[in-house]
Amino acid sequence: MIYLDYNASTPVAPAVREAMWPFLGEFFGNASSDHPLGRKVSEAVANARKQVAGLLGAKPEEILFTSGGTESNNYVIKGVARKLSDRGKHIITSSIEHPAVVNPCKSLESEGFETTYVPVDKYGLIDVQEVINAVQPDTILISIMHANNEVGTIQPISEISEIAREGGIWMHTDSAQTCGKLSTDVNELGVDFLSIAGHKVYAPQGIGALYIREGINLEPLHHGAGHESGRRAGTEAVPAIVGLGKAAELAKAHVGDTSTAMLRDRLWEGISQQLGDDAVLLGHPTKRLPNTLAVGFRNRIGADILLACPELCASTGAACHAAHRKRSEVLAQMNVPEDVAFGAVRFSLGHPTTQEEIDQAIEIITKAVSQCPVA
Ligand SMILES: Cc1ncc(COP(=O)(O)O)c(C=O)c1O
Repeated sequence: MIYLDYNASTPVAPAVREAMWPFLGEFFGNASSDHPLGRKVSEAVANARKQVAGLLGAKPEEILFTSGGTESNNYVIKGVARKLSDRGKHIITSSIEHPAVVNPCKSLESEGFETTYVPVDKYGLIDVQEVINAVQPDTILISIMHANNEVGTIQPISEISEIAREGGIWMHTDSAQTCGKLSTDVNELGVDFLSIAGHKVYAPQGIGALYIREGINLEPLHHGAGHESGRRAGTEAVPAIVGLGKAAELAKAHVGDTSTAMLRDRLWEGISQQLGDDAVLLGHPTKRLPNTLAVGFRNRIGADILLACPELCASTGAACHAAHRKRSEVLAQMNVPEDVAFGAVRFSLGHPTTQEEIDQAIEIITKAVSQCPVA
């Protein structure tokens, strides 16, 4: 099996598993308990908070543990909306966000908030001028993803943050796909909020974090006891938190590593050499995640291609049902023509990916594409 779907989920790194293990056994206590076992566990949570803060150049108190990217995004978008609704009801986001940003915005729209979805160009890139044009006197939040999960295009977050700062608007970025791949220093990015998804950085599924700039207090999503300094009620998921801390520490060492980008480029060169114009690179040619290669196979159906290579795990960029084909919203917003978008496949590489796997994948993919019926 060749796994090239690391943007969907990563395996738990062996060192992360090892760090978690004692907290699934002997150190099972509740972090709120005032006894030796409780204190041991509480110290581990504090250490994990430091490790996550270290990845972001933040202070430990600025890190809130959540259940993942979706909760972090909901926490910010709904929290800011509720906090600042007296000041304004306008939110700016992009037209290619993950549903974990789009749907909280849609939910708020049903409560009377207004969202502007800034367009992207054919590479999935936002023009900063479009953000400037979207700002209104009642804008309270700009939420733009750091990089797109489907095509990998990286957005100019620090430039957009400057616009936010000048307008006195809070700035959030969804960094689910960028932690451990790009620098996610919150001060360099200039953001007030940043979302992390654990299972994209070799931590377990069901854990995440949210950076909240010091001095900002948002209304919690749910209410209960005073966990997480009163910001998120519910007994902490200690093993997963410890895992995320370790993963963050490991992720720091991977930022700037070029080996994955070299393998990604090898994959593209192999595919494009063999298939020529039948393979179209999707996303930005250079401003792109180092592990992400989205390809549109012209006049093919992505799902057919993947069906023809059962030994390969990757994702399609279109929803295909027998009678109804639909481009993904991201590819539609990028104006990728249907004959290319229907054949979209996303290959995303990870730390365990080897050159042998890439060379095999090139063979498997090109053979499958050549044998797939022309749609
Ligand atoms: C960009 C982006 N944001 C948010 C999420 C959601 O994260 P989680 O699965 O941890 O809820 C994902 C997951 O695919 C993602 O790619």
